[in-house]
Amino acid sequence: MPNLHITAHPLIQHKLTLLRDSATEPPKFRQLVRELAALLCYEATADLRLSPLRVQTPMGVAEGAQLTDGVGLVPILRAGLGMVEGVWDLIPHAEVWHLGIYRDEKTLRPVEYYNKLPVEPRVQVCLVLDPMLATGGSAVAAVDILKRWGVSRIKFVGIIGAPEGVRALSEAHPNVPIHLAALDERLNEIGFIVPGLGDAGDRQFGTG
Ligand code: PRP
Repeated sequence: MPNLHITAHPLIQHKLTLLRDSATEPPKFRQLVRELAALLCYEATADLRLSPLRVQTPMGVAEGAQLTDGVGLVPILRAGLGMVEGVWDLIPHAEVWHLGIYRDEKTLRPVEYYNKLPVEPRVQVCLVLDPMLATGGSAVAAVDILKRWGVSRIKFVGIIGAPEGVRALSEAHPNVPIHLAALDERLNEIGFIVPGLGDAGDRQFGTG
């Protein structure tokens, strides 16, 4: 799958293992989500565009560069929220547009409940943030919304994906790169990723 990027970076794999561990409590879990989000976004933003920028150093003139793409972060509530601060550490001027989408527990279909996107997009690139790509329903719905909004360069940045979710997202939106720390074995009968990490929202917010 050309658009699927699973990173083997040792820092990411080390932190992912701590994140999965059921002994990891919410404060540490939140810190790991934040750190993983930054590391994954570092890789996902490797093709952002630059324009030349000349600066004066104490010793002379340097020919440098500045980002020209406006970046929008689109966390899917709730679990995507914890990824925002990590990406902001790298791209402090990124705009954040929240999308509220939850998964109906019986049908596993996405239900949109919050969306305050302005009429016109003001960014060129959107990073959809959600730690878990399970059936893919939430991610597909989020990308549908962003494409209708008018953004053409969209990337999905998650932490763990199931084969079912990767397939659904890449079939629905083949031009959306998928960045993950791990591709797990499967979904279980209630739509949870195995081995996964449990419920990423509950583990961040202490609501499990
Ligand atoms: C989880 C997760 C994703 C979604 C993934 O959210 O954070 O948003 O499910 O599942 P899918 O790929 O099958 O759509 P959940 O619905 O539990 O909401 P929450 O983040 O508010 O807990």
